[in-house]
Amino acid sequence: MSTTQPDLGFIHRFVPGRDAGRPPLLLLHGTGGDENDLIPLANRIAPGSSMLSPRGKVNEQGLTRFFRRSPNGVWDRDDFAQRTLELAEFLRQARAAYQIGKPIALGYSNGANIAWSLLLRDPQALAGAILFRAMLPFDPRPLPDLRGVPVLLIAGTHDELIPVDRAGLLAALLGEAGADVSYEVLPAAHGLTEQDITLAAAWLANRR
Ligand code: MLT
Repeated sequence: MSTTQPDLGFIHRFVPGRDAGRPPLLLLHGTGGDENDLIPLANRIAPGSSMLSPRGKVNEQGLTRFFRRSPNGVWDRDDFAQRTLELAEFLRQARAAYQIGKPIALGYSNGANIAWSLLLRDPQALAGAILFRAMLPFDPRPLPDLRGVPVLLIAGTHDELIPVDRAGLLAALLGEAGADVSYEVLPAAHGLTEQDITLAAAWLANRR
C-alpha cells in the first residue's frame, strides 16, 4: 500500500514498511524527478522498509528540485538553507503522522545535496544517509557534532555533473564533523549502476 498526500507541506508518498527491523527511509529525488522516482530503487536496496518520499518544490524550467540555483548552476545558498529547514519541518510532521522512527535519507544528486544539508542543519533529524552523486560546492562550516551518524557516499569517476573531487571534499567534511563515513568511488557516470545498488544494500544491511 502507498499513499499520495498533498498535505504536511510537501506533496509526498508514504509506503508503510513490512519489516519492522528495517529503518525507515527518506527518499530524496534528483533534478527532474518526483516522489515516485526512487521507490523502485529503494525497494531493491531495502525491501520492506517504510518509505517517505517528498517531491521537491522548486520548478527549474519544468524540472523539479529541492532548492534553487542560478541559470549558470550556482546554488542559491539562502534558498538552500531555508528549504532545508522546511524539509526538516516536513519530516517532523510526517514522522508524527505516520508513526515512524528517525529515517535514513537516501538521496540522489540534488536530493543527496539537500540530504547532507539536513544532516548539518538539523543533526537530530536523520539516523544516517546514503548519498549518491552528492557534492560540496562551498564551505558550510561551522559543523555540528555528527559523531556516530553513519553516512555512505558514492561518487562516479566519470560523473559529467559532479566533479569527483567535490564528492571527496564532502566525504572529508562529514568525517570532520564526526560522521562514520564510508566513501566509495565507482567507475561510473552520473547515473546509478548495479554496483551502487549492491554497495548501498550491503551498507544498509549492517545497520539493522
Ligand atoms: C544540484 O544542483 O544539486 C547538483 O548540481 C546536482 C544536479 O544537477 O541536480
